[in-house]
Amino acid sequence: MNELGAKIAITGCGSSTPTQVITNDDLSHLVDTSDEWIRTRTGIGRRHLASADTSVSDLAAQAAQGAIAMAGLTPQDIDLIILATSTPDDLFGSAAKVQQLLGASNAVAFDLTAACSGFVFALVTAAQFIRTGVYQRVVVIGADVLSRWVDWSDRSTCVLFGDGAGAVVCQGNPNEDRLLGFEMYSDGQQHHSLNLSYQGQPTTLKEGVLIGQGTYQPITMNGREVYRFAVAKVPEVIEKALFRANLSTDAIDWLILHQANQRIMDAVAQRLNIPPEKVIANLGEYGNTSAASIPIALDEAVREGKIKTGDIIASSGFGAGLTWGAAVFRWGI
Ligand code: UT7
Repeated sequence: MNELGAKIAITGCGSSTPTQVITNDDLSHLVDTSDEWIRTRTGIGRRHLASADTSVSDLAAQAAQGAIAMAGLTPQDIDLIILATSTPDDLFGSAAKVQQLLGASNAVAFDLTAACSGFVFALVTAAQFIRTGVYQRVVVIGADVLSRWVDWSDRSTCVLFGDGAGAVVCQGNPNEDRLLGFEMYSDGQQHHSLNLSYQGQPTTLKEGVLIGQGTYQPITMNGREVYRFAVAKVPEVIEKALFRANLSTDAIDWLILHQANQRIMDAVAQRLNIPPEKVIANLGEYGNTSAASIPIALDEAVREGKIKTGDIIASSGFGAGLTWGAAVFRWGI
């Protein structure tokens, strides 16, 4: 029960993925890998990649449009847009551009960076604005174009990632509070495990004044470390969010994890005693789309009629930072 006032419902979802596709076989012509290795180690078959003239803002706006329409709203009804992304088109932020593309002229918009936990962190952030009564209708978007930042000659990372965007609309709800529980963590001690970091060359402006100018370097990851972290921490954070919701794992209708690796999803479900048929997975088609993966999977499952109004969903994001979090919510109004 929410003491501050406004309650929350998640009333619409949408997604957008680029049309260009690269298969495991295609990748085997770029690096020393095989369809068999990628499928058995990750569950990934294909990934959709943004063309040079497709921006994160374009994908994000398309996903948001779908979510706003499903919620029965117009862009002008939106008070706040939170864009979770690690790959903005502009380091000053891309959310305002999304606001413009949507024509959501009444909305304030900002970016939030928490890598693959970005969607869950943004959803929880949106909920705080609704609970305090500041905003009523919030669009939360997870969007990433990691293909811009992958080293396409590094087989240990390039096979994993794809591009896309997913979005939901959160609204003040006079009835039940449908964000049932959440929990979030960060551990900077493990920052080195997964990076897309800036590297500057020292440049002298005048004697004694050195600045660093450069660019971001391609993604580096210690896969085994991140794997171990995910399998240990994700079940734990979901259990904590369930505890806050006063629910047991039996109450979960659907588990939607960040789509990083099928083996991680299987291990988490097994630890939580959740049967495979309750686990929503689409990484075979899209790979790891970072902040976009949870809302894309949610949107597909809702549109397929799998997830129905009132269903309880446990979602969990995890990744660079390291960061991880879980949100348990009831779908629809
Ligand atoms: O979104 C952020 C969250 N990220 C994650 O959750 C990623 C978590 N980690 C993983 O999903 C897995 O660790 C990977 C899929 C990245 C790697 O799978 P793994 O079973 O942990 O493989 P590994 O790194 O232990 O590598 C095993 C072998 C190595 O060869 P040696 O040293 O045993 O000879 C690698 O060089 O597989 C080799 N390898 C490959 N072989 C063929 C690594 N990448 C490839 C590849 N194709 N693409």
